[in-house]
Amino acid sequence: MTVSHTARLLVVGDDDFGAAAADAILQRLPDRRPRLGIATGDTPMPLYSELARRVRSGQIDVSTGFLIALDEYVGLGSQDPRSYAAYVRTQVGAPMGIPAGNILVPDGLAVDPDAEAEAFERRIGDLGGVDVQVAGIGSNGHLAFNEPGSPLDSITRVVTLSEQTRSDNARFFGSSSDVPHRAITQGIATICRARSVVLLARGSSKAAALAAALTGPVDTWIPASVLQRHPAVTVIADRPAAADLPTMRY
Ligand code: GLP
Repeated sequence: MTVSHTARLLVVGDDDFGAAAADAILQRLPDRRPRLGIATGDTPMPLYSELARRVRSGQIDVSTGFLIALDEYVGLGSQDPRSYAAYVRTQVGAPMGIPAGNILVPDGLAVDPDAEAEAFERRIGDLGGVDVQVAGIGSNGHLAFNEPGSPLDSITRVVTLSEQTRSDNARFFGSSSDVPHRAITQGIATICRARSVVLLARGSSKAAALAAALTGPVDTWIPASVLQRHPAVTVIADRPAAADLPTMRY
């Protein structure tokens, strides 16, 4: 059983997760003006810590780079610590020495969120696109905030979050009822325009979604399954997240 025609799958222990993800990204990131797509959440934290460590030790310099977020909650401003703007700035940009002006996140407080989504799609294009996109997977198979049922040709837009996602992300808000109902997210087609994608999954709560995404049919009900069609995907999973993958039998 292969995962897909072109994807590379690495199953790694916890201690190696950040370094494996950093290696996969740096192999594909240009030295000059790198444009890195950023996923939020817990999963990529070891990656961002490892990249920051390599910056501090002088192994890499990404200070001319750009960070492009996948999504943002509608209703949260960049100064709100629960916003993805705050996450990208404090957990990724500042530790990696990337100036705030080189960080693109949709404005969750835009008066017209639909117009902001359109403008964000254009900003990605104006920058020349994403070189390497870091992606996570939701327990329901979502990609960024493209929930099950999202069209595969979707671009950046305002979406309504599923109850599953709001409950999964309640840990960042105190309770599900405090999680915003809407978000601006890059679309599935937008994400697939990235030159490379590094999909990260950690923990047993991702096992079923990861197996469906990598080994099931490409299906709008598992948005991450679209990555089977992308020509340059690396998947890095810890053992609990990889537990349902048929390759683990061998
Ligand atoms: C959020 C983000 C996704 C991310 C997902 C998984 O819903 N919008 O981009 O992949 O969470 O998060 P975690 O890694 O915390 O499980």
